[in-house]
Amino acid sequence: MAAIAPVGVRTGCRVIRDGDDAHLLPNEAHSIPARQPAMRRASGAARWIAHRLLAELGVDNVGILRAPSGAPVWPDGIIGSLAHDDDMAVAAVAPVGHISALGIDVEPAQPLPGDILALVTIPADRTDAADRHLAGRILFAAKEAVYKAVYPLDREVLGYEDIAVDLNAGHATTKTGRRASLAYCAAPRVVVLAFVEAR
Ligand SMILES: CC(C)(COP(=O)(O)OP(=O)(O)OC[C@H]1O[C@@H](n2cnc3c(N)ncnc32)[C@H](O)[C@@H]1OP(=O)(O)O)[C@@H](O)C(=O)NCCC(=O)NCCS
Repeated sequence: MAAIAPVGVRTGCRVIRDGDDAHLLPNEAHSIPARQPAMRRASGAARWIAHRLLAELGVDNVGILRAPSGAPVWPDGIIGSLAHDDDMAVAAVAPVGHISALGIDVEPAQPLPGDILALVTIPADRTDAADRHLAGRILFAAKEAVYKAVYPLDREVLGYEDIAVDLNAGHATTKTGRRASLAYCAAPRVVVLAFVEAR
């Protein structure tokens, strides 16, 4: 992930383990409504990474609360994003600067089932440059990463049909007029970073 991240963006990952829910700070645990233990473990693992990334930026012991929308609330002057699949958690953070919004998604490096691919794809999507077997999975992760990046800017719920992804050119556009750059890796897991450059 470090190899694909743009300058200034810090990333990290962690295999989700039993007991990772204990890494939620008390105010974080309070902000996350009761959910299945597996989801709390995943949220704890993602915050464990994010706390370390924030410490590298000189920000210690600050809870990353979950807003009612689901979006994480970052300390002033910081942008970031969290994601988890069944086994792995990832996080990305950056000081606000030349990048004004950040989104990340992680997915297993397996082909996307055909029925989900049909739900996610629109004619404007371009994926020829990606590995043929993983193109659908990368497309899916890209749309989720873009959504996480732009939601805090527009506060608008978007569907897959509202985000056009061009993996060949490395960017995406939303129906709200946002343009995000994309970077991805496909092994050992699919991870996509979406970032909006400041105007
Ligand atoms: C944001 C969303 C796509 C995340 O998908 P997911 O597969 O459930 O979960 P992921 O592991 O990828 O990401 C979870 C993290 O996303 C972040 N997140 C949740 N809602 C978010 C939002 N509105 N904006 C930004 N980030 C958000 C949270 O940090 C969350 O971590 P946490 O639960 O530990 O706090 C989903 O929660 C959602 O809001 N969907 C509604 C809109 C949608 O699905 N549109 C189609 C995709 S474009």
